[in-house]
Amino acid sequence: MDHFHHRDGVLHCEDVPLARIADEVGTPVYVYSAATFRRHARVFRDAFAALPDVHLAYAIKANPNLAVLRLLAAEGYGADVVSGGELARALAAGVPPSGIVFSGVGKTRAELARGLDAGIGQFNLELEEEGEVLADLAHARGTTAPAVLRVNPDVDAGTHAKISTGRRENKFGVPIDQAPAMFARLSRRPGLELHGVAIHIGSQLADLAPLERAYLRVGELVADLRRAGHTITRVDLGGGLGVRYRPDDRFPKPAELGAMAARVTRGWDVQLQFEPGRVIAGNAGVLLTRVIWVKPGVTHPYVIVDAAMNDLARPALYDAWHDFVAVEPTGDRMLANIAGPVCETGDTFATDREIDRVTSGDLAVFRTAGAYGATMASTYNSRALVPEVLVDGDRFAVVADRIAPETILAAERVPDWLR
Ligand code: LLP
Repeated sequence: MDHFHHRDGVLHCEDVPLARIADEVGTPVYVYSAATFRRHARVFRDAFAALPDVHLAYAIKANPNLAVLRLLAAEGYGADVVSGGELARALAAGVPPSGIVFSGVGKTRAELARGLDAGIGQFNLELEEEGEVLADLAHARGTTAPAVLRVNPDVDAGTHAKISTGRRENKFGVPIDQAPAMFARLSRRPGLELHGVAIHIGSQLADLAPLERAYLRVGELVADLRRAGHTITRVDLGGGLGVRYRPDDRFPKPAELGAMAARVTRGWDVQLQFEPGRVIAGNAGVLLTRVIWVKPGVTHPYVIVDAAMNDLARPALYDAWHDFVAVEPTGDRMLANIAGPVCETGDTFATDREIDRVTSGDLAVFRTAGAYGATMASTYNSRALVPEVLVDGDRFAVVADRIAPETILAAERVPDWLR
């Protein structure tokens, strides 16, 4: 459920008409609903209410806006970070260091050191050498690093290949059959406290069955590790729950994930951790755009909007579907292709799609753009970096400025020898 609704024929975010935001901030612009973020955060938390010890670390890669992080920190969420930049954001937003989990297959030595110096709660190790380096860094500081070992359970998550992470050939985690030997070697290192294991098999999962298979494998591993004498107190089960992008999509609800997790992990006697991203942020945001032209095409007209693939990359990258809805629909419909101004054919949001009839100057939104939207934006074609607005009831604020092409140009230099 979200808080984007037509009221008196005009699309609102909570109590704010989107036309007002377009007038005051301009387009394209991402618009987020604070009430939707809060609702998703609570629904997800409630899904695990039956479990005795759960830590929720919001995967901030989904939407790392500082105001969003602040809001989710106030809801009691920790943060799953994957770079020094994300770590800095989580800290700046007031996430307690103990609630921060540092994931990522390529953490640099400098990033590991920053995590240690910040006193974060957990490093998710991706390879044995990373564990050795982290142990040495911690030991040299006279401290110990809390960590878990990310394993690759070799489960096909059944999602888009580019966002699938749990198959043997993917770059993530250590092969699950090698985990016990690695765990034994790493746990002997001074400087490292190895508390358990982690998995994350992919994103936008439409089915709980692959997750359940992965959880079961982790359960067997935990039992093996305990038999070998290790104390296992934490298991990080990652994120991945999919969300609805099209009206007829069906996805498992957080409560179903919670019930499955409770059933499969009964008796594990560990702190369970989850790293939800998309399920918290996806439907909490839209990309508000204005139609520049409706250009006649060979089969259907091209609706050319002022948002482009640099603002919302998902359709170009993953052939993703984002619903397109007029801010003031007339009731008429049309068949159209929707494209942005960028000079590539890939800058197409939809083809042969039935949409609200729009004409030049109309406002519309791409829905379900709160996750992996603004954060994946670029300035390709020397376009501005898209701004972000947060609505909360009847008020709104610009929570990320539009970065003008001139500002980006000002950071570039012509070397002396070319002057
Ligand atoms: N934990 C780890 C270690 C991850 O790699 C990810 C996502 C998550 C948690 C959060 O997964 P979620 O709950 O959001 O599914 N840009 C792509 C999605 C990439 C996801 C990468 N990892 C997209 O736009 O679909």
